Amino acid sequence: MQHVSPVLILDYGSQYTQLIARRIREMGIYSFILPGDASLSRIQELNPKALILSGGPSSVYDEGAPGLPQGLLDYQKSQKLPLLGICYGMQLLAKDLGGEVEKATVREYGRMIVHPEPSSKLFASDQFASSFQAWMSHGDETKKVPPGFRLVARSDSGSFAAMENPEAKIFALQFHPEVTHTENGAEILRRFLVDLSGIAADWSMQSVMEEQIKSIRERVGPSAHVLCALSGGVDSTVAATLVHRAIGDRLHCVFVDTGLMRFKEQERVMKLFKDQLHLPVTCVDAEARFLGKLAGVSDPEAKRKIIGAEFIAIFEEEAQKISKQIGHLPEFLVQGTLYPDVIESSPAPGDMSAGSGTGRKHSAKIKSHHNVGGLPKDLRFQLIEPLRALFKDEVRALGKQMGVPEDFLKRHPFPGPGLAVRVIGEITKSNLDVLREVDEIFINAIRDAGLYDKIWQAMAIFLPIRTVGVQGDGRTHDHVVALRAVTSSDGMTADWYAFDHAFLARVSSKICNEVRGVSRVVYDISSKPPATIEWE
Ligand code: XMP
Repeated sequence: MQHVSPVLILDYGSQYTQLIARRIREMGIYSFILPGDASLSRIQELNPKALILSGGPSSVYDEGAPGLPQGLLDYQKSQKLPLLGICYGMQLLAKDLGGEVEKATVREYGRMIVHPEPSSKLFASDQFASSFQAWMSHGDETKKVPPGFRLVARSDSGSFAAMENPEAKIFALQFHPEVTHTENGAEILRRFLVDLSGIAADWSMQSVMEEQIKSIRERVGPSAHVLCALSGGVDSTVAATLVHRAIGDRLHCVFVDTGLMRFKEQERVMKLFKDQLHLPVTCVDAEARFLGKLAGVSDPEAKRKIIGAEFIAIFEEEAQKISKQIGHLPEFLVQGTLYPDVIESSPAPGDMSAGSGTGRKHSAKIKSHHNVGGLPKDLRFQLIEPLRALFKDEVRALGKQMGVPEDFLKRHPFPGPGLAVRVIGEITKSNLDVLREVDEIFINAIRDAGLYDKIWQAMAIFLPIRTVGVQGDGRTHDHVVALRAVTSSDGMTADWYAFDHAFLARVSSKICNEVRGVSRVVYDISSKPPATIEWE
C-alpha cells in the first residue's frame, strides 16, 4: 500500500493514535502511522498528502520530551503540506513556531464545551454554528499563539482550544477530534483533509484489493511460487485469497489439522477453501503426531512449545514436497500480519514508561508469546504480507469484497494452539472429543439466541476433575466442563458475559443429556484482569 500517498500521522504516544488512523480511513482516505521521531527522509519517502501530529503523555518542556523530526517544518513549508496538530501536537507547534506553552492552571480532562470562532477556516461550516462538546486530556496548554496564527476556539474555562494559520496550512486542536465523545470530531477531520487540504476520499477496499493484486504480481513476477500456511482463521484466509487472485495456482497453501481443532473444523474449512474460494490447498492430517508429542504433557507453556515446533516441522516437510513437484522451494511466504502488530512493534517516543496506558508494549509481548503459528526462520523465504497496512475490520471488509462468507469473517478469535489450552492438564483424544461436543452445543446455542456477534469469544473448557453425579438410579463419577463467554474490544481486557438464567439452564441440560461422560457444567464469571480469557 506504500505507493498510495497517505495522510501521515506522527505518533507521540497518545492512546488515541490508532483511532486517528481509523477515523481517517473510515472517511475513505488512507492514513499511516510513523513514530514521532521518524526521520525526515522516511517521511519524504512516503510522500504524504497531509501530516497529523498526535497527542502524547509528555510535556513539551520535559527533558527528553519528543520533538518534531528535524527539518519537518521546513519540509512542510516548502511543500505547503497541510499540517494538523492534536493536543501535544498543538503544543509542539506552538512551542516550535514561536508561541508559548505552560502548565495549565486548570487541568482539563474529559468532556468540555468548546466555543468555535465561526469566521475561522477550520470551523466555517454550519455544523459549528454553536458550541460543541469535545474530549480533552491535557495538563499543559498553549498560552500564546505563534506569529501568523489566530486563536479560533476556546474551552468553557477560557483556555485555548484551537488555532490556525490557513495561509501556512497549519491547524491545531487542543482537544481530540478522533474520540467519539467529541461532537463533530469526524467533521473536523473531514474539513481539514477534504475541504482545506483538497484530498479526495477515494480509498476503498476495492482500491486496496486492486492495488495489492497489482503489487503482488509485480513482486512475485511471472514464474516464482508462493507458500502459505492456512490456519483456518480470517487473516490467513483473506491473505491467501488475495495472493491467489494475483498469481493463481503458483500459490501453494498448507492446512495442518493438528487434531486440536473444533467440531468438524477440518471438514468445514476445507470446504470453504476448496469449494468456495478455490484455493489450492493440501490438508495434512497430523492428529496422531501432535497427540503423540503431547502425551503426558500438562504444562501450558510446554504444550505451546511442542505444538509450535511440530507445526514448523510439518510445514517444512510440506515445503520440501512442494519443492519436489515444482523443482525448487517456493521463493515467497504469505503471512497474515495486520497493521496493529506492525504499529505495536515500534513503540512511540514518550511512551516508554511501563503502565503509560497505551497497552502497546504489553500487547506486543502477549502476541509474541502466543504466536504458535510461527514459521521456520531458516527457510529463507521472502515475505508477502498483504494485510500489513490494514486493521482487523478492514481485513473483514476486504474478505467480503472477495467473496469470503460473512459468517466466516465474523468468527470469534481462536488461539493458535487450539483446544490444547482448553483441555486443562493432560490432553487425550477422548477428552478432546468431549470438549468438541460441548463447545459445539454451546456455540450453536449462542448463535440460535442471536448473541454470537455481541460476544468477543465463547468457549468450553475441559477440566481435569471428576465429580459425583446421579443418573437414573445410579451414582456417576463424571467430568466437569466449564463454559466461558466474554465481551471485549481487543482481547486485552474482557468482561464475562451475563447470559440470562434460562439460557444457561438450557445449555447445561443439553450438554448433560447429550454428551456422554459429562454430568456437571459451570459458568466462568471472571473478568480479565485478573483472569485471562483462556484458562491456560
Ligand atoms: P488471554 O488468555 O491471554 O487471551 O487473555 C487473549 C487472546 O489471545 C488468545 N490466545 C492465543 N492466541 N496463541 C494464539 O494465537 C496462543 O497461545 C494464545 N493464547 C491465548 C485468546 O484466545 C484471546 O483471544
